[in-house]
Amino acid sequence: MRLNEQQQAILNGAQGETLAKVMLTLVKYGEAFNADKMVAVTSEYNHLVTSFGLKALTPVYELMDKILEAGACSSQKFSADPRPVDKNVPANFLEKFIFNKFMYSKQDFYEGQLEKLGLLNKDAFTCTCYMNEVGNKPKQGDILSWSESSAVVYANSVLGARCNRNSGIMDLMGSIVGYVPHFGLLTDEGRKATWVIKIETTKKPEAQLLGSAIGMKVMEDVPYVVGLDKWLGTELDDAACTYLKDFGAATASNGAVGLYHIANLTPEAKQLGEALIAEGAKEYVIDDAELQRVYDSYPVIWKNADATPKLCFMGCPHMSLEQLKSWTDKVESALKEYGNSKVVIPTVFTAAPAVLAEFEKTDYAKRLKATGVITSYICPLMYMNNPLCGKKPVITSSNKLRTYTTARYYTDDEILVQITKGGKA
Ligand code: F3S
Repeated sequence: MRLNEQQQAILNGAQGETLAKVMLTLVKYGEAFNADKMVAVTSEYNHLVTSFGLKALTPVYELMDKILEAGACSSQKFSADPRPVDKNVPANFLEKFIFNKFMYSKQDFYEGQLEKLGLLNKDAFTCTCYMNEVGNKPKQGDILSWSESSAVVYANSVLGARCNRNSGIMDLMGSIVGYVPHFGLLTDEGRKATWVIKIETTKKPEAQLLGSAIGMKVMEDVPYVVGLDKWLGTELDDAACTYLKDFGAATASNGAVGLYHIANLTPEAKQLGEALIAEGAKEYVIDDAELQRVYDSYPVIWKNADATPKLCFMGCPHMSLEQLKSWTDKVESALKEYGNSKVVIPTVFTAAPAVLAEFEKTDYAKRLKATGVITSYICPLMYMNNPLCGKKPVITSSNKLRTYTTARYYTDDEILVQITKGGKA
């Protein structure tokens, strides 16, 4: 790998032993992927995936201490993934005890470390840092050092920034030293599509289901999706961005997609069109039957498949302002239709603290509260990732949450019926 003078100097220890080790780690990481050089991180802010003060992460706290001691603070301010706990989210006594005394007992300590290191602000905890309300929105062409998979795929695809699917901690290293290895999705070649996906459905495909189908088919490859503009239009308005947020998270978690192109919609597809498709690209046709096949293939891993759901999570990735508003309308009118005044399953909508603050300024907030829906800033995955919550029958329309936990997936329409009417969708 070629290093420029400044990079070589850091590696040689010109800025201290700690930064030299950080640079060495990034160089080794790059060499493993045949990177040809290191390039500067150009985004205004960084984003870290490790936001939770999990007791088991002692090596991370020690690493952070070393970095802080060496004064090697991040050259960029950063946002971080969501906090894991919120007292407003229903949990029984035992669950709360386990969260606070065992699992996330280091939360306050770790947040203190993050603040010292350069956290954007004390509420900059969300996986949708690119929302306008949060303000960590990279520009097209920016080089990033992120690793939250749902944010990486959004930044690459919808914003046209350049970022690999890094691992946690590697995002921190790149941010501290200000360089990342040049390979994969940072290169023009790596951004070419090796799959053409043809959408031939008779109605707008469910974002989370379509993303799942594509993710499971192409895995880590880059898909070029044709025919989705028929349903999403050709402008990246709020509705299209919200759809692509959920679609992308499903491609990234059900497969390992870091970048997709949507013909006539996403920036690079608009600029370069079919020139983005690599020679010999494979083809995958998605129609109604294929989406149904994918849906039917999801295993139900509840102990009792007929259990009544005890909790519903929406907002993985965190909901947009547009989503919170439209779901308020939907929940209200469905409750009316089924003759209920409040949701019949405890339901939590999660969003970024800054998005929730904006939502609170609107009339919708009062209306949503009246339906019994709880809003929160947590990551549902962090909530569910323990044996106690894992046994709970939880429903969600997030395909990421379905993949990583015991939560059961339903489409948005099915979820709406379940939380407002009850019974089977
Ligand atoms: Fe976000 Fe947590 Fe889901 S980080 S994408 S809410 S798993």
